[in-house]
Amino acid sequence: MSSAGAAAIPDGRRWSKGPGGSPSSPVTTAIFLFFFVVVVGVLVSARWITTTTHLSITNLDQWRSKPAILTATQTTSIPAVPAAPPPPRATYSLSCSAPPLPRNPTIPSNISQTLDLVLSPNASSASTCAAVPDPPPLPANANASSTCPAYFRFIHEDLHPWRAAGGITRAMVDRARATANFRLVVIRGRAYIERIAPAFQTRDLFTIWGILQLLRRYPGRVPDLDLMFDCVDWPVVRPEQYEGENATVLPPLFRYCGDNETLDIVFPDWSFWGWPEINIKPWDALRKELGGGNKKVKWLDREPYAYWKGNPDVAAIRQELVKCNVSSEHEWNARIYKQDWLKEIKAGYKQSDLASQCTHRYKIYIEGSAWSVSEKYILACDSMTLVVTPKYYDFYSRVLMPMQHYWPIRDDNKCSSIKHAVDWGNSHKQKAQRIGNKADNFIQKELTMGYVYDYMFHLLTEYAKLLRFKPTKAPEAVEVCPESLACQAIGREKKFMEDSMVRSASDAGPCDLPPPFSPEEFKALKRRREKSMKQIETWEQKASKPVDSNPRELHAFPSPKRFI
Ligand SMILES: *[C@@H]1O[C@H](CO)[C@@H](O)[C@H](O)[C@H]1NC(C)=O
Ligand SMILES: *[C@@H]1O[C@H](CO)[C@@H](O)[C@H](O)[C@H]1NC(C)=O
Ligand SMILES: *[C@@H]1O[C@H](CO)[C@@H](O)[C@H](O)[C@H]1NC(C)=O
Ligand SMILES: *[C@@H]1O[C@H](CO)[C@@H](O)[C@H](O)[C@H]1NC(C)=O
Ligand SMILES: *[C@@H]1O[C@H](CO)[C@@H](O)[C@H](O)[C@H]1NC(C)=O
Ligand SMILES: *[C@@H]1O[C@H](CO)[C@@H](O)[C@H](O)[C@H]1NC(C)=O
Repeated sequence: MSSAGAAAIPDGRRWSKGPGGSPSSPVTTAIFLFFFVVVVGVLVSARWITTTTHLSITNLDQWRSKPAILTATQTTSIPAVPAAPPPPRATYSLSCSAPPLPRNPTIPSNISQTLDLVLSPNASSASTCAAVPDPPPLPANANASSTCPAYFRFIHEDLHPWRAAGGITRAMVDRARATANFRLVVIRGRAYIERIAPAFQTRDLFTIWGILQLLRRYPGRVPDLDLMFDCVDWPVVRPEQYEGENATVLPPLFRYCGDNETLDIVFPDWSFWGWPEINIKPWDALRKELGGGNKKVKWLDREPYAYWKGNPDVAAIRQELVKCNVSSEHEWNARIYKQDWLKEIKAGYKQSDLASQCTHRYKIYIEGSAWSVSEKYILACDSMTLVVTPKYYDFYSRVLMPMQHYWPIRDDNKCSSIKHAVDWGNSHKQKAQRIGNKADNFIQKELTMGYVYDYMFHLLTEYAKLLRFKPTKAPEAVEVCPESLACQAIGREKKFMEDSMVRSASDAGPCDLPPPFSPEEFKALKRRREKSMKQIETWEQKASKPVDSNPRELHAFPSPKRFI
């Protein structure tokens, strides 16, 4: 009865209907953009995102205490059970019984040939994926688990349309095939992949690798499921296309980012396990390196400007950002550098070391063609991040709050907005440092690989609960396991897999999934966010008035020190 599209609308949390609907088909747009990214994708340094629905951390303190009480209650009931020795953990190592299959030089280098080989009949007959015996289930209190970070609450938001529709049918999953790159089926902890269309570079390979690591971290605990994954940048599931007769096929489509007008389900991107094409290491190691990078130059000794380095050619907004660079006419307090990936690739990535880029007091985050994986690298530098109003969000960015984790930069007036932010920071140094620290802390504490896996675990578990059919392996699907992937991988790809491999099952449960937002909580968060944005806008207007209304009074501008 309740149509998925219609059911989602009254809630209106994640999106609301635009007035006329979208003028062009999202599929066409996606395909167009897909080709666009093929051209520019190699050069993409960093695609960025934070979001429109940031939520306050302060608010989260309230619910944080709730599950803690629950845990305590459970603990008190435990002594009845005699303390059994913990079951031995499964541990894993990698051994390949044969060298990788020969490569086909005619396959384009912008898609993963490794995945091709893994799924080829020759490889699948040569390597079998050994059955990992299901370990005994962890006792509920194996290790008093803690509540997951606040951003996990968005799992409920992302799945809400299907919960409202009464569940996910096979027809809905089939509908998601239209744009999907691969289909994943998990049955009794074993994974089966059907490659529908090769993804750009190694996105599909490393996403699948990540999922296989999750299965190892929590053996026997990821439920049976069947899902479609789209590795292209832009979200495509527009609710207005799934009203009326199409409500029964609202596609649950997994991808790396979403926006306020789409219902795509967001999932951690491949870069957490590495991006071999541009030498971006797996996240665990890189996160620690970035933490160390913060210690190289003390905040006060850093350049008092806003720094950005990336590839401006992926998006018009980035080209606009380049215009804010210092010049003989203007000092917008910005230092903008172009990342030439082709040159970097040839020169061995000497100029693209992310841990050496925390040299300015302010760093700019700007989206590329969609969200950008660089978001976490920029936030991890404890300089204050200046976020140019983003359109997209990824799985964790919706909790970030302006003036707490970052300073918002107007999209329509970037240069003067950046100038104002830097002037503010240089005259409120402690506050600016606090904002930088808060973001760095968030990244170091709440965005560990452990939490990335827990997010995947909870998202997939909640998703699987909604399935109204029993997942089955399609004849086209091939079983994959860490060995089957890593033993076909070569070079940096293989190294990143070895480095990011889960070596033993977790002896603790995942963190506890926090509850959904109440509508009031959700509204309150939105209001807080809007208030901060408004506040900054007002400050900016005040500060820029003398300049805008009467340029001849330039000398009267409050901080003319670096004005040329
Ligand atoms: C599989 O192996 C056979 C014989 O070794 C070879 O001729 C064929 O090209 C291989 N197929 C693929 C897809 O690699
Ligand atoms: C790879 O590049 C070719 C052209 O060289 C292009 O036709 C194709 O769409 C690209 N594939 C992907 C997945 O980007
Ligand atoms: C339902 O989906 C079909 C196929 O995509 C489309 O042609 C049709 O316009 C849709 N109907 C509505 C009401 O959106
Ligand atoms: C921005 O200005 C600096 C300093 O003049 C210069 O080194 C840099 O190349 C400029 N960036 C771009 C993208 O032009
Ligand atoms: C979505 O966000 C954009 C800004 O990125 C805004 O222009 C648009 O009105 C928003 N749409 C909805 C439906 O809220
Ligand atoms: C519980 O966690 C602690 C530290 O996180 C670890 O040292 C300990 O071995 C764990 N205990 C069990 C029973 O898993």
